[in-house]
Amino acid sequence: MLLTPGDRVWVEDPGYFLTRRQLMLANAVLQPVPVDAEGLRVDVGIATAPRARAAFVTPSHQFPTGVVLSMARRLALIAWARQAGGFIVEDDYASEFRYSGRPLAALQGLDEGERVIYVGTLNKALFPGLRIGYAVVPEALLQAYVAARYLIDRQPPSLHQAVVAEFMREGYFAAHIRRMRLMYREQRDALAHALARHAGGDVRIDLPDQGMHLVAHLRAGVSDLEVEAAARERDIVVRAMSRFYLAAPRRAALMLGFSGFPPQVIKPAAARLAHVITRTGAAERRSG
Ligand SMILES: Cc1ncc(COP(=O)(O)O)c(C=O)c1O
Repeated sequence: MLLTPGDRVWVEDPGYFLTRRQLMLANAVLQPVPVDAEGLRVDVGIATAPRARAAFVTPSHQFPTGVVLSMARRLALIAWARQAGGFIVEDDYASEFRYSGRPLAALQGLDEGERVIYVGTLNKALFPGLRIGYAVVPEALLQAYVAARYLIDRQPPSLHQAVVAEFMREGYFAAHIRRMRLMYREQRDALAHALARHAGGDVRIDLPDQGMHLVAHLRAGVSDLEVEAAARERDIVVRAMSRFYLAAPRRAALMLGFSGFPPQVIKPAAARLAHVITRTGAAERRSG
């Protein structure tokens, strides 16, 4: 709806592959913008594609790195969108699961110029097969947005919407989130402790305040793709972070999901994974 074929769009590098694929379906030209410890390098975006039509970002928990977009960068991004007449799509895909600290204000709440489209999902808070999400859309786009949705599939099933609405109204949703948050935090900590204990010298763990995965950085020279393949042989599914890069230098790290596994499952699996990491590193050093 926002894009004309050939429009340039900022995407995070590394970033979420399905967002990129959707943009490619719309025949957008992807402009990778690197991510550092403060999130998207807005200055690099401005230097390389100042007239881009839109920026697609995950500010509260960058996918896949987990970094939070700093307040200075949030303000710079909004200032850019206003000045360039661009739009920002704020993908807040895991905001319900916050374990400590307060979140920074959403771009959508900071923006007074109607440049931000905020999108969220019940994929993680409830379940992926539900296919219900939500968006906060600038007034000026609303009619077009509703018309486009009508053309795609009209609407999500009204029965599901009604059930979810009642689930929320009666307080079950809030209770569910509170319960899952405690559980996920315990699972996050179990994973981080077990991995540090068994592979402490070979990984550096970023403990996230939010979300359902943590990032374990590997030592220089160890291939995350090889660890991913070796782990799979031992029935452990990890994602190599280097897959998610376009142009920025690839960093070898593992994305490790911790939600949905009790600590008694996580701990032995983390020990097996630690063994895989250590062995892969040692084999790579021997070969060269
Ligand atoms: C970065 C990011 N955005 C969005 C989503 C949600 O997608 P959907 O609600 O279409 O399942 C996910 C899901 O994993 C995600 O990781």
